[in-house]
Amino acid sequence: MQNLVSPTLLSQNTSWDPHFHFYKLGHWINDPNGLFYLNGKYHLFFQLNPDATVWGNMHWGAAESIDLITWKHKPMALYAEPEGLGYIFSGGAVVDINNTSGFGIDDIPPVIATFTQQSVQEEQVQSIAFSVDGGDNFTMFEQNPVIANPGLKDFRDPKVVWFDGQDEQYWVKAVVAGQCVHFYKSTDLKKWTKLSEFGENIGAHGGVWECPDLFPLRCHKTGLERWVLLISINPGGPNGGSATQYFIGNFDGVEFTSQDKETRWLDHGTDCYAGITWDNTPNILEERLYTAWMSNWNYANDTPDDRWRGAMTLPRKIKLSKSNGSYCLLTPAFPDFDACGTQEVQFESGHSLPQAYKLALNVSPKEAETNIVWTNEKDEVFSISINLADKKITVDRSQAGFSEKGFNSTLSIPIVFNTNDTIHLEVYADTCSFECFFNDGEQCITTLVFPSLPFSGLDISEHVNNVIIKNLEALA
Ligand code: FRU
Repeated sequence: MQNLVSPTLLSQNTSWDPHFHFYKLGHWINDPNGLFYLNGKYHLFFQLNPDATVWGNMHWGAAESIDLITWKHKPMALYAEPEGLGYIFSGGAVVDINNTSGFGIDDIPPVIATFTQQSVQEEQVQSIAFSVDGGDNFTMFEQNPVIANPGLKDFRDPKVVWFDGQDEQYWVKAVVAGQCVHFYKSTDLKKWTKLSEFGENIGAHGGVWECPDLFPLRCHKTGLERWVLLISINPGGPNGGSATQYFIGNFDGVEFTSQDKETRWLDHGTDCYAGITWDNTPNILEERLYTAWMSNWNYANDTPDDRWRGAMTLPRKIKLSKSNGSYCLLTPAFPDFDACGTQEVQFESGHSLPQAYKLALNVSPKEAETNIVWTNEKDEVFSISINLADKKITVDRSQAGFSEKGFNSTLSIPIVFNTNDTIHLEVYADTCSFECFFNDGEQCITTLVFPSLPFSGLDISEHVNNVIIKNLEALA
Protein backbone atom coordinates (compact mmCIF):
# COMPACT_ATOMS: atom_id res chain seq x y z
CA MET A 1 0.00 0.00 0.00
CA GLN A 2 1.24 3.49 -0.84
CA ASN A 3 1.39 5.44 2.39
CA LEU A 4 3.19 8.60 1.36
CA VAL A 5 0.67 11.41 1.70
CA SER A 6 1.49 15.06 1.36
CA PRO A 7 1.13 17.05 4.60
CA THR A 8 -0.92 19.74 2.85
CA LEU A 9 -3.38 17.22 1.46
CA LEU A 10 -3.72 15.64 4.86
CA SER A 11 -4.46 18.86 6.66
CA GLN A 12 -7.20 19.65 4.11
CA ASN A 13 -8.85 16.33 4.82
CA THR A 14 -8.69 16.23 8.53
CA SER A 15 -7.60 18.15 11.56
CA TRP A 16 -5.29 16.54 14.04
CA ASP A 17 -5.69 19.37 16.53
CA PRO A 18 -5.85 17.64 19.93
CA HIS A 19 -8.97 18.07 22.06
CA PHE A 20 -7.51 17.42 25.50
CA HIS A 21 -3.75 17.55 25.10
CA PHE A 22 -1.66 20.68 25.41
CA TYR A 23 -0.27 22.05 22.13
CA LYS A 24 0.30 25.50 20.62
CA LEU A 25 -1.22 26.41 17.29
CA GLY A 26 1.24 28.00 14.84
CA HIS A 27 4.27 26.87 16.84
CA TRP A 28 6.77 24.15 17.53
CA ILE A 29 6.94 22.89 21.10
CA ASN A 30 9.04 20.16 22.71
CA ASP A 31 9.98 19.28 26.32
CA PRO A 32 7.84 20.39 29.27
CA ASN A 33 9.91 22.71 31.47
CA GLY A 34 9.68 24.32 34.91
CA LEU A 35 6.52 22.50 36.00
CA PHE A 36 5.11 23.58 39.35
CA TYR A 37 1.84 23.91 41.26
CA LEU A 38 0.98 26.94 43.35
CA ASN A 39 -2.23 28.36 44.80
CA GLY A 40 -4.52 26.01 42.87
CA LYS A 41 -2.82 26.49 39.51
CA TYR A 42 -0.60 24.18 37.48
CA HIS A 43 2.10 26.22 35.71
CA LEU A 44 3.44 24.64 32.54
CA PHE A 45 6.47 25.96 30.65
CA PHE A 46 7.86 24.33 27.55
CA GLN A 47 10.46 24.48 24.80
CA LEU A 48 9.00 26.89 22.25
CA ASN A 49 10.03 28.17 18.85
CA PRO A 50 8.10 31.46 18.62
CA ASP A 51 8.72 31.74 14.86
CA ALA A 52 8.05 28.35 13.28
CA THR A 53 6.66 24.82 13.51
CA VAL A 54 10.12 23.22 13.47
CA TRP A 55 12.76 23.13 16.24
CA GLY A 56 15.00 26.19 16.70
CA ASN A 57 15.38 29.55 18.46
CA MET A 58 14.39 28.05 21.80
CA HIS A 59 12.47 30.12 24.35
CA TRP A 60 10.27 29.05 27.28
CA GLY A 61 6.57 29.27 26.42
CA ALA A 62 4.04 29.41 29.26
CA ALA A 63 0.54 28.21 30.10
CA GLU A 64 -1.55 27.45 33.17
CA SER A 65 -4.43 25.20 34.13
CA ILE A 66 -6.56 24.37 37.12
CA ASP A 67 -7.54 20.85 35.99
CA LEU A 68 -4.68 19.83 33.64
CA ILE A 69 -7.26 19.33 30.88
CA THR A 70 -7.98 22.85 29.66
CA TRP A 71 -5.12 25.32 29.36
CA LYS A 72 -4.74 29.08 29.25
CA HIS A 73 -1.86 30.19 27.00
CA LYS A 74 0.29 32.93 28.49
CA PRO A 75 3.01 35.29 27.21
CA MET A 76 6.47 33.75 26.88
CA ALA A 77 8.27 33.31 30.19
CA LEU A 78 11.95 33.25 29.17
CA TYR A 79 13.43 34.87 26.09
CA ALA A 80 16.47 33.61 24.22
CA GLU A 81 19.57 35.78 24.54
CA PRO A 82 21.39 35.09 21.26
CA GLU A 83 23.80 37.97 21.95
CA GLY A 84 24.47 36.70 25.45
CA LEU A 85 24.46 33.22 27.04
CA GLY A 86 22.07 31.98 24.38
CA TYR A 87 18.89 30.07 23.77
CA ILE A 88 16.77 28.75 26.63
CA PHE A 89 16.90 24.97 26.78
CA SER A 90 15.16 22.61 29.19
CA GLY A 91 15.12 22.60 32.96
CA GLY A 92 12.85 22.72 35.99
CA ALA A 93 11.47 25.15 38.54
CA VAL A 94 11.08 25.09 42.31
CA VAL A 95 8.85 27.01 44.66
CA ASP A 96 11.38 28.34 47.19
CA ILE A 97 9.04 28.22 50.20
CA ASN A 98 11.73 29.27 52.72
CA ASN A 99 13.17 31.96 50.46
CA THR A 100 16.60 30.33 50.59
CA SER A 101 17.52 32.26 47.45
CA GLY A 102 16.66 35.62 49.02
CA PHE A 103 14.74 36.63 45.88
CA GLY A 104 11.39 36.64 47.69
CA ILE A 105 9.66 39.84 48.76
CA ASP A 106 6.71 40.45 51.10
CA ASP A 107 6.44 36.82 52.25
CA ILE A 108 5.55 35.60 48.76
CA PRO A 109 7.70 32.53 48.02
CA PRO A 110 9.80 33.14 44.91
CA VAL A 111 9.72 30.62 42.09
CA ILE A 112 13.15 29.82 40.69
CA ALA A 113 13.49 28.49 37.14
CA THR A 114 16.68 26.50 36.50
CA PHE A 115 17.61 25.87 32.87
CA THR A 116 20.35 25.49 30.32
CA GLN A 117 21.44 28.27 28.01
CA GLN A 118 23.11 27.29 24.76
CA SER A 119 25.11 30.02 23.04
CA VAL A 120 25.33 30.52 19.29
CA GLN A 121 28.72 28.78 19.55
CA GLU A 122 26.80 25.86 21.16
CA GLU A 123 28.30 26.14 24.60
CA GLN A 124 25.89 24.90 27.29
CA VAL A 125 25.78 26.44 30.79
CA GLN A 126 23.26 26.41 33.64
CA SER A 127 21.33 29.58 34.49
CA ILE A 128 18.48 30.66 36.75
CA ALA A 129 15.64 33.19 36.64
CA PHE A 130 13.21 34.12 39.40
CA SER A 131 9.60 35.14 39.73
CA VAL A 132 8.17 37.12 42.63
CA ASP A 133 4.58 37.05 41.37
CA GLY A 134 3.87 33.34 41.54
CA GLY A 135 5.31 32.45 38.14
CA ASP A 136 3.70 35.00 35.79
CA ASN A 137 6.88 36.99 35.11
CA PHE A 138 10.52 35.92 35.38
CA THR A 139 13.68 38.00 35.75
CA MET A 140 17.05 36.66 34.60
CA PHE A 141 19.60 36.40 37.42
CA GLU A 142 22.30 38.96 36.69
CA GLN A 143 25.16 36.65 37.65
CA ASN A 144 24.31 33.83 35.28
CA PRO A 145 25.63 31.28 34.59
CA VAL A 146 25.38 29.61 37.99
CA ILE A 147 27.28 26.57 36.66
CA ALA A 148 29.87 27.09 33.93
CA ASN A 149 30.54 24.50 31.27
CA PRO A 150 33.14 21.96 32.49
CA GLY A 151 34.42 21.30 28.94
CA LEU A 152 31.58 19.09 27.72
CA LYS A 153 29.57 19.32 24.51
CA ASP A 154 26.38 18.00 26.12
CA PHE A 155 25.81 19.50 29.56
CA ARG A 156 22.21 20.39 30.17
CA ASP A 157 18.64 20.11 31.51
CA PRO A 158 19.10 20.94 35.24
CA LYS A 159 16.37 19.69 37.60
CA VAL A 160 16.40 20.64 41.27
CA VAL A 161 14.98 18.93 44.36
CA TRP A 162 15.14 19.71 48.10
CA PHE A 163 17.25 17.18 50.01
CA ASP A 164 15.84 16.89 53.50
CA GLY A 165 18.64 14.92 55.23
CA GLN A 166 18.88 14.12 58.93
CA ASP A 167 21.78 16.49 59.54
CA GLU A 168 21.72 18.77 56.55
CA GLN A 169 19.18 20.22 54.16
CA TYR A 170 20.03 21.67 50.75
CA TRP A 171 19.07 21.78 47.10
CA VAL A 172 20.34 19.06 44.79
CA LYS A 173 20.58 19.61 41.07
CA ALA A 174 20.86 16.84 38.47
CA VAL A 175 22.48 17.87 35.17
CA VAL A 176 23.10 15.47 32.31
CA ALA A 177 26.64 15.37 30.97
CA GLY A 178 27.10 13.26 27.84
CA GLN A 179 25.94 9.80 28.86
CA CYS A 180 25.86 10.29 32.61
CA VAL A 181 24.39 12.63 35.19
CA HIS A 182 26.23 15.01 37.53
CA PHE A 183 24.80 16.00 40.92
CA TYR A 184 25.44 19.40 42.53
CA LYS A 185 24.42 20.95 45.85
CA SER A 186 23.50 24.47 46.94
CA THR A 187 21.90 26.21 49.89
CA ASP A 188 20.74 29.28 47.91
CA LEU A 189 20.22 28.01 44.32
CA LYS A 190 22.98 30.37 43.16
CA LYS A 191 26.31 28.82 44.30
CA TRP A 192 26.66 25.16 43.34
CA THR A 193 29.30 22.58 44.21
CA LYS A 194 29.64 19.23 42.53
CA LEU A 195 28.74 16.13 44.55
CA SER A 196 29.09 13.08 42.32
CA GLU A 197 28.40 11.38 38.98
CA PHE A 198 26.16 8.47 38.06
CA GLY A 199 25.69 6.45 34.90
CA GLU A 200 28.87 4.65 33.98
CA ASN A 201 28.26 0.95 33.22
CA ILE A 202 24.58 1.12 34.09
CA GLY A 203 21.39 1.72 32.12
CA ALA A 204 20.85 2.21 28.40
CA HIS A 205 23.59 4.08 26.54
CA GLY A 206 22.45 4.08 22.90
CA GLY A 207 22.53 7.88 22.83
CA VAL A 208 22.97 11.06 24.81
CA TRP A 209 21.28 11.33 28.23
CA GLU A 210 18.78 14.18 28.57
CA CYS A 211 16.25 15.67 31.01
CA PRO A 212 17.14 13.99 34.34
CA ASP A 213 14.81 14.12 37.33
CA LEU A 214 15.76 12.95 40.83
CA PHE A 215 13.17 12.71 43.62
CA PRO A 216 12.17 10.64 46.67
CA LEU A 217 8.97 8.55 46.74
CA ARG A 218 7.35 6.48 49.46
CA CYS A 219 6.22 3.02 48.40
CA HIS A 220 2.52 2.48 48.97
CA LYS A 221 3.17 -1.23 49.65
CA THR A 222 6.21 -1.19 51.96
CA GLY A 223 5.89 2.33 53.39
CA LEU A 224 9.63 2.79 52.70
CA GLU A 225 11.20 5.70 50.87
CA ARG A 226 13.37 5.27 47.80
CA TRP A 227 14.90 7.72 45.31
CA VAL A 228 13.88 7.69 41.67
CA LEU A 229 16.03 8.94 38.80
CA LEU A 230 14.43 9.52 35.40
CA ILE A 231 16.77 9.74 32.42
CA SER A 232 15.62 10.38 28.88
CA ILE A 233 17.85 8.98 26.17
CA ASN A 234 18.12 9.81 22.48
CA PRO A 235 18.65 7.76 20.40
CA GLY A 236 18.71 4.34 22.06
CA GLY A 237 15.07 3.90 23.07
CA PRO A 238 13.65 0.35 22.82
CA ASN A 239 11.57 1.29 19.75
CA GLY A 240 14.20 3.48 18.10
CA GLY A 241 14.90 7.14 18.80
CA SER A 242 13.82 8.70 22.07
CA ALA A 243 12.58 7.08 25.30
CA THR A 244 12.83 7.50 29.06
CA GLN A 245 14.52 4.99 31.35
CA TYR A 246 14.36 5.07 35.13
CA PHE A 247 16.41 3.90 38.08
CA ILE A 248 15.22 3.31 41.64
CA GLY A 249 17.62 3.28 44.54
CA ASN A 250 19.09 5.44 47.23
CA PHE A 251 20.43 8.99 47.32
CA ASP A 252 22.44 9.66 50.48
CA GLY A 253 22.87 13.38 49.88
CA VAL A 254 26.00 12.84 47.79
CA GLU A 255 25.64 9.76 45.60
CA PHE A 256 22.85 7.91 43.87
CA THR A 257 23.00 4.09 43.88
CA SER A 258 20.61 1.92 41.92
CA GLN A 259 18.79 -1.14 43.40
CA ASP A 260 20.02 -3.25 40.45
CA LYS A 261 21.39 -3.07 36.92
CA GLU A 262 18.13 -3.67 35.07
CA THR A 263 17.05 -1.14 32.43
CA ARG A 264 13.44 -0.08 33.00
CA TRP A 265 11.34 2.12 30.68
CA LEU A 266 8.76 4.57 31.93
CA ASP A 267 6.60 4.23 28.81
CA HIS A 268 7.01 1.46 26.24
CA GLY A 269 5.66 3.40 23.25
CA THR A 270 7.42 5.60 20.72
CA ASP A 271 6.13 8.98 21.85
CA CYS A 272 6.70 9.83 25.48
CA TYR A 273 9.93 11.76 25.95
CA ALA A 274 11.79 14.32 28.07
CA GLY A 275 9.19 14.16 30.83
CA ILE A 276 9.79 15.66 34.26
CA THR A 277 7.77 15.91 37.46
CA TRP A 278 5.90 18.89 38.90
CA ASP A 279 7.24 20.72 41.94
CA ASN A 280 5.14 21.57 44.99
CA THR A 281 2.11 19.37 44.20
CA PRO A 282 0.01 17.99 47.10
CA ASN A 283 1.06 14.63 48.57
CA ILE A 284 4.39 14.81 46.70
CA LEU A 285 6.16 12.05 48.66
CA GLU A 286 3.40 9.51 47.84
CA GLU A 287 2.83 10.47 44.24
CA ARG A 288 4.58 12.77 41.82
CA LEU A 289 2.84 14.35 38.89
CA TYR A 290 4.61 13.85 35.55
CA THR A 291 4.21 15.28 32.04
CA ALA A 292 6.23 14.45 28.92
CA TRP A 293 6.54 15.60 25.33
CA MET A 294 4.48 13.37 23.05
CA SER A 295 6.90 12.84 20.16
CA ASN A 296 10.20 11.29 19.17
CA TRP A 297 13.29 13.02 17.80
CA ASN A 298 13.36 10.47 14.94
CA TYR A 299 10.52 12.33 13.20
CA ALA A 300 9.39 15.20 15.46
CA ASN A 301 10.25 17.86 12.86
CA ASP A 302 8.50 15.98 10.06
CA THR A 303 5.11 14.94 11.42
CA PRO A 304 2.32 16.12 9.12
CA ASP A 305 0.63 18.31 11.72
CA ASP A 306 2.14 21.37 10.07
CA ARG A 307 -0.26 23.88 11.71
CA TRP A 308 1.44 23.03 15.01
CA ARG A 309 4.12 20.55 16.04
CA GLY A 310 4.46 18.89 19.39
CA ALA A 311 2.00 18.21 22.21
CA MET A 312 2.32 17.10 25.82
CA THR A 313 1.24 13.68 27.07
CA LEU A 314 -1.62 13.48 29.52
CA PRO A 315 -0.24 14.26 32.96
CA ARG A 316 0.34 11.03 34.88
CA LYS A 317 0.95 10.13 38.49
CA ILE A 318 4.22 8.42 39.32
CA LYS A 319 3.88 6.04 42.28
CA LEU A 320 6.37 3.63 43.79
CA SER A 321 5.44 -0.03 43.99
CA LYS A 322 7.18 -3.33 44.57
CA SER A 323 6.81 -6.44 42.46
CA ASN A 324 8.83 -9.70 42.56
CA GLY A 325 11.21 -8.30 45.14
CA SER A 326 12.20 -5.09 43.33
CA TYR A 327 10.82 -1.60 43.23
CA CYS A 328 9.09 -0.33 40.10
CA LEU A 329 6.99 2.65 39.08
CA LEU A 330 3.27 2.87 38.36
CA THR A 331 2.12 5.66 36.05
CA PRO A 332 -1.68 5.96 35.92
CA ALA A 333 -3.35 8.85 34.09
CA PHE A 334 -3.91 11.79 36.41
CA PRO A 335 -6.58 14.19 35.15
CA ASP A 336 -10.11 13.57 36.29
CA PHE A 337 -12.34 13.46 33.22
CA ASP A 338 -15.49 12.58 35.18
CA ALA A 339 -16.98 16.02 34.79
CA CYS A 340 -15.98 16.26 31.11
CA GLY A 341 -17.50 14.96 27.91
CA THR A 342 -20.44 12.60 27.69
CA GLN A 343 -21.45 9.82 30.08
CA GLU A 344 -19.56 6.56 29.75
CA VAL A 345 -21.55 4.14 27.59
CA GLN A 346 -21.15 0.57 26.50
CA PHE A 347 -19.41 0.44 23.12
CA GLU A 348 -21.34 -1.61 20.56
CA SER A 349 -19.60 -2.97 17.49
CA GLY A 350 -20.63 -1.03 14.40
CA HIS A 351 -20.72 2.28 16.31
CA SER A 352 -18.73 5.08 14.75
CA LEU A 353 -15.90 6.48 16.87
CA PRO A 354 -15.60 10.12 17.83
CA GLN A 355 -12.25 11.90 17.35
CA ALA A 356 -11.40 12.13 21.04
CA TYR A 357 -12.44 9.66 23.70
CA LYS A 358 -11.53 7.35 26.52
CA LEU A 359 -12.00 3.65 25.83
CA ALA A 360 -11.84 1.13 28.66
CA LEU A 361 -12.05 -2.63 28.51
CA ASN A 362 -11.25 -5.82 30.40
CA VAL A 363 -9.40 -8.86 29.14
CA SER A 364 -9.44 -12.21 30.88
CA PRO A 365 -5.96 -13.60 31.69
CA LYS A 366 -7.07 -16.83 30.02
CA GLU A 367 -7.24 -15.28 26.53
CA ALA A 368 -4.11 -16.04 24.52
CA GLU A 369 -4.57 -13.13 22.12
CA THR A 370 -6.71 -9.99 22.00
CA ASN A 371 -6.89 -7.65 19.02
CA ILE A 372 -8.08 -4.08 18.96
CA VAL A 373 -8.23 -2.73 15.42
CA TRP A 374 -9.00 0.83 14.29
CA THR A 375 -9.96 1.46 10.65
CA ASN A 376 -11.00 4.36 8.43
CA GLU A 377 -12.58 4.88 5.03
CA LYS A 378 -9.17 5.01 3.37
CA ASP A 379 -8.49 1.40 4.43
CA GLU A 380 -5.85 2.55 6.87
CA VAL A 381 -5.46 0.38 9.94
CA PHE A 382 -3.97 0.84 13.39
CA SER A 383 -3.93 -2.08 15.79
CA ILE A 384 -2.89 -3.18 19.24
CA SER A 385 -2.59 -6.92 19.91
CA ILE A 386 -2.16 -8.22 23.40
CA ASN A 387 -0.60 -11.64 23.32
CA LEU A 388 -0.72 -13.05 26.83
CA ALA A 389 0.60 -16.42 25.69
CA ASP A 390 3.85 -14.86 24.40
CA LYS A 391 3.82 -12.01 26.95
CA LYS A 392 4.08 -9.36 24.27
CA ILE A 393 2.09 -6.48 22.83
CA THR A 394 2.25 -5.57 19.16
CA VAL A 395 1.46 -2.00 18.17
CA ASP A 396 1.15 -1.77 14.39
CA ARG A 397 1.11 1.62 12.72
CA SER A 398 2.67 0.39 9.47
CA GLN A 399 -0.57 0.94 7.49
CA ALA A 400 -1.95 3.82 9.51
CA GLY A 401 -1.38 6.89 7.30
CA PHE A 402 1.75 9.03 7.73
CA SER A 403 4.75 6.79 7.27
CA GLU A 404 7.91 8.84 6.78
CA LYS A 405 11.12 8.79 8.85
CA GLY A 406 10.52 5.31 10.24
CA PHE A 407 7.07 6.25 11.50
CA ASN A 408 5.52 3.17 9.81
CA SER A 409 6.88 0.85 12.48
CA THR A 410 5.46 -2.25 14.11
CA LEU A 411 6.45 -2.36 17.76
CA SER A 412 6.90 -5.52 19.71
CA ILE A 413 6.75 -4.70 23.40
CA PRO A 414 7.34 -7.07 26.33
CA ILE A 415 4.44 -7.22 28.78
CA VAL A 416 5.50 -6.05 32.23
CA PHE A 417 2.04 -5.76 33.83
CA ASN A 418 0.51 -8.43 36.02
CA THR A 419 -1.24 -11.07 33.89
CA ASN A 420 -2.67 -13.24 36.69
CA ASP A 421 -5.97 -11.41 37.07
CA THR A 422 -8.36 -9.56 34.77
CA ILE A 423 -6.40 -7.03 32.73
CA HIS A 424 -7.85 -3.55 32.63
CA LEU A 425 -6.90 -1.31 29.72
CA GLU A 426 -7.69 2.38 29.34
CA VAL A 427 -6.94 4.07 26.02
CA TYR A 428 -7.07 7.83 25.71
CA ALA A 429 -7.33 8.63 22.00
CA ASP A 430 -7.15 12.20 20.78
CA THR A 431 -7.13 12.61 16.95
CA CYS A 432 -3.48 11.61 16.44
CA SER A 433 -2.43 10.05 19.72
CA PHE A 434 -3.12 6.87 21.67
CA GLU A 435 -2.11 6.58 25.31
CA CYS A 436 -2.65 3.12 26.73
CA PHE A 437 -2.64 2.48 30.47
CA PHE A 438 -2.63 -1.19 31.51
CA ASN A 439 -3.83 -2.08 35.03
CA ASP A 440 -3.90 1.53 36.21
CA GLY A 441 -0.39 2.38 35.11
CA GLU A 442 1.55 -0.89 35.56
CA GLN A 443 2.56 -0.34 31.93
CA CYS A 444 2.03 2.59 29.54
CA ILE A 445 2.30 2.75 25.79
CA THR A 446 2.06 6.11 24.06
CA THR A 447 2.05 6.36 20.31
CA LEU A 448 1.24 8.95 17.67
CA VAL A 449 -0.65 8.00 14.51
CA PHE A 450 -1.62 10.35 11.68
CA PRO A 451 -4.33 8.71 9.54
CA SER A 452 -5.43 10.61 6.44
CA LEU A 453 -9.03 10.34 7.64
CA PRO A 454 -10.14 9.85 11.25
CA PHE A 455 -10.30 6.27 12.48
CA SER A 456 -14.05 5.81 12.81
CA GLY A 457 -14.24 2.02 12.91
CA LEU A 458 -13.24 -0.17 15.84
CA ASP A 459 -13.11 -3.93 15.96
CA ILE A 460 -12.36 -5.73 19.19
CA SER A 461 -11.92 -9.46 19.75
CA GLU A 462 -15.24 -10.95 20.77
CA HIS A 463 -14.15 -12.25 24.15
CA VAL A 464 -13.34 -8.75 25.45
CA ASN A 465 -15.92 -7.49 27.91
CA ASN A 466 -17.02 -4.29 29.59
CA VAL A 467 -16.06 -2.14 26.64
CA ILE A 468 -16.89 1.39 27.72
CA ILE A 469 -16.45 4.60 25.75
CA LYS A 470 -16.58 8.19 26.90
CA ASN A 471 -16.76 10.86 24.22
CA LEU A 472 -14.32 13.72 24.91
CA GLU A 473 -14.71 15.49 21.59
CA ALA A 474 -16.37 18.55 23.09
CA LEU A 475 -13.11 19.44 24.86
CA ALA A 476 -10.95 21.71 22.76
C1 FRU B 1 15.32 17.01 24.87
C2 FRU B 1 16.23 18.18 24.49
C3 FRU B 1 16.97 18.69 25.71
C4 FRU B 1 17.26 20.11 25.35
C5 FRU B 1 16.04 20.50 24.57
C6 FRU B 1 16.30 21.50 23.47
O1 FRU B 1 14.28 16.80 23.99
O2 FRU B 1 17.12 17.78 23.49
O3 FRU B 1 18.10 17.94 26.05
O4 FRU B 1 17.47 20.93 26.45
O5 FRU B 1 15.52 19.31 24.02
O6 FRU B 1 15.10 21.93 22.89
